[in-house]
Amino acid sequence: MSAAPHIVVLTGAGVSAESGLSTFRDKTGVWTKYDWREVATPEGFAANPALVHSFYNQRRHDVVEAQPNAAHKALSALEARLEASGGRLTLVTQNVDDLHERAGSRRLIHMHGEIMKSRCAICGDVKPCTEDISTESLCVSCKAPGGMRPHVVWFGEMPLYLDEIAEAIARADLFVSIGTSGNVYPAAGFVAEASSIGIPCTELNLEPSENAYAFSDRRYGPAGEIVPRWAEEIFP
Ligand code: APR
Repeated sequence: MSAAPHIVVLTGAGVSAESGLSTFRDKTGVWTKYDWREVATPEGFAANPALVHSFYNQRRHDVVEAQPNAAHKALSALEARLEASGGRLTLVTQNVDDLHERAGSRRLIHMHGEIMKSRCAICGDVKPCTEDISTESLCVSCKAPGGMRPHVVWFGEMPLYLDEIAEAIARADLFVSIGTSGNVYPAAGFVAEASSIGIPCTELNLEPSENAYAFSDRRYGPAGEIVPRWAEEIFP
């Protein structure tokens, strides 16, 4: 690619796997140990909020312990190179961890929310959150008890920033999907959206995803190895 392009990158749990954070659907993934209906739906939260809090409190602890890996760093370095040359990298992540921002990514969209933030279900206030949340936690804004929850998107809820994402894809020169199994919509549909308007699509993953057939360029291996190699190749 010669002139500085606008690249839209979608990441999933695979990009954080080498940082020690579990993926969801691999053999030892989160959904082999927990029932997503119990811990990641509004119905599950209504039935057993304490269980849901303990699940996300543990995940928040894991994120605090984790460090960005070579894939996160290669994406932020690529963004800086593109910006300096008049190009752009829009990073859309399904991950609720903060490893992309800790690696230095700036133009970042958290479509499934952020574990390091809490939200009050009563007044809607979103705040940074490093502490455990419980059924007794009070909202610092409206002072109501019982409404605090992690600022994450559960199954059955609408992902965030879908208009901004559609706009970025419509203006992209390249769409790249990294470390996602392609099981969860609407993110799994972005490749079809991009290829239907003639945008080339690249998949970087440990193994072919559910949507592998839809990508014109496919590269397989650990993200910490293949993402830095791809980033250097696409825009040195
Ligand atoms: N490098 C690259 N890819 C990897 C690595 C690695 N080191 N390890 C695993 N992968 C790949 C797996 O092969 C798999 O295709 O990452 C993908 C992870 O897939 P999922 O576990 O399904 O995670 P993801 O696609 O992010 O899930 C989407 O599902 O439950 C929800 O909200 C949750 O955002 C999440 C969404």
